[in-house]
Amino acid sequence: MRWTLPPQQVPQAWFNVLARMDHQLEPPLHPATRQPIGPDDLAPLFPMALIAQEVSNEPWVDIPGEVIDVLRLWRPTPLVRAHRLEQALLTPARIYYKDESVSPAGSHKPNTAVPQAYYNKVEGIKRLATETGAGQWGSALAFASALFDLECKVYMVRASYDQKPYRRVMMETWGASVVPSPVDDPSHPGSLGTAISDAVADAASRQDTHYSLGSVLNHVLLHQSVIGLEAREQLQLAGESLPDVVIGSCGGGSNLGGIALPFVRDETVRLVAVEPASCPTLTAGSFEYDFGDTAGLTPLLAMYTLGHDFVPPSIHAGGLRYHGDSPIISSLVKSGRMEAIAYPQGKVFDAAVQFARTQGSIPAPETSHAIRAVIDEALAAKEEGLERCILFSYSGHGLLDLSAYDDYLHGRLIQES
Ligand SMILES: Cc1ncc(COP(=O)(O)O)c(C=O)c1O
Repeated sequence: MRWTLPPQQVPQAWFNVLARMDHQLEPPLHPATRQPIGPDDLAPLFPMALIAQEVSNEPWVDIPGEVIDVLRLWRPTPLVRAHRLEQALLTPARIYYKDESVSPAGSHKPNTAVPQAYYNKVEGIKRLATETGAGQWGSALAFASALFDLECKVYMVRASYDQKPYRRVMMETWGASVVPSPVDDPSHPGSLGTAISDAVADAASRQDTHYSLGSVLNHVLLHQSVIGLEAREQLQLAGESLPDVVIGSCGGGSNLGGIALPFVRDETVRLVAVEPASCPTLTAGSFEYDFGDTAGLTPLLAMYTLGHDFVPPSIHAGGLRYHGDSPIISSLVKSGRMEAIAYPQGKVFDAAVQFARTQGSIPAPETSHAIRAVIDEALAAKEEGLERCILFSYSGHGLLDLSAYDDYLHGRLIQES
């Protein structure tokens, strides 16, 4: 029911899907000139090593030994077969999940926080500024900053800051300082877009500070490829050749990219992105150049977007409340290689509770979006009388999201249209 790999089998190189895509991505544009940006434009915000990875066309990028040493604190993560869920659903489908919740921060986010902190440290940076939605990314960067002895300042979306106080405590325990965003409007619930604006403005105003982004960008998806690389090996150990479908929740696209992109060249494997109906970037947004943040400080990215001033309702899956999406994921959806589906949060919590009552683990609200889609796939397999191998990203646990479960169990979830 559970396949683990020894610590020596943490991947030694990241997989870069940019080298394997049929077409080139459109380049990011400078926010003022609207011309393609170069490395110098990004240098005030990111270390050169990450800028190089952002545009690299090498299929494999070596992972530094210092990064592997830290990843080994919890990697390789287990691949688990959700046998009890299968039994409850009476489905012929075989459901496997890659359990990223075992990291110190409780999600997949440290897979990129660790290399980002490392490369900044190596280039002499003393302090990192970042945004966080539900607090998962902020806690991952706070953890990584502590290990590499960097200061960390986190701008936390106000709706989540108010809903999830223990995430703030977690970040502070690792030494970060946390403030609600937007900083200049206490009545605003905030969004990932406003928090990115606050963090970018902070980093741009100080020489000793860089900005760190937990999703969306190419180098983040590169770092997350360890998820899918390990899963491929573990599926072999489980006696599977390839999955029929790979499913992940999608906020900015990093856990989905991590599990799905190592399968992009396997044409029989369906790839599925799952997002909230109240923030339906891939399913109802338009593909165009847009800013990554609300204030228009970041480069313009070619992506699916709901508009950079879109403020999603305060659903519990704070990490999915983003107006845009990764250019890589957007391009795969646009070309038809990846499917996208959206669910309202009531249906998502039905699935989360079914998972908790069969498998035991309590998933993060973001992760529960993937679980909803997995259950629907498994039920469709039953209807069609087909065996199907389903792989999904269990991107994080929900033990610090219990207020969301409290709202669900006591009929207080916001009803979406
Ligand atoms: C547990 C979990 N899953 C998924 C996501 C969505 O982000 P991404 O699309 O970058 O994986 C988040 C974001 O905070 C998260 O915390």
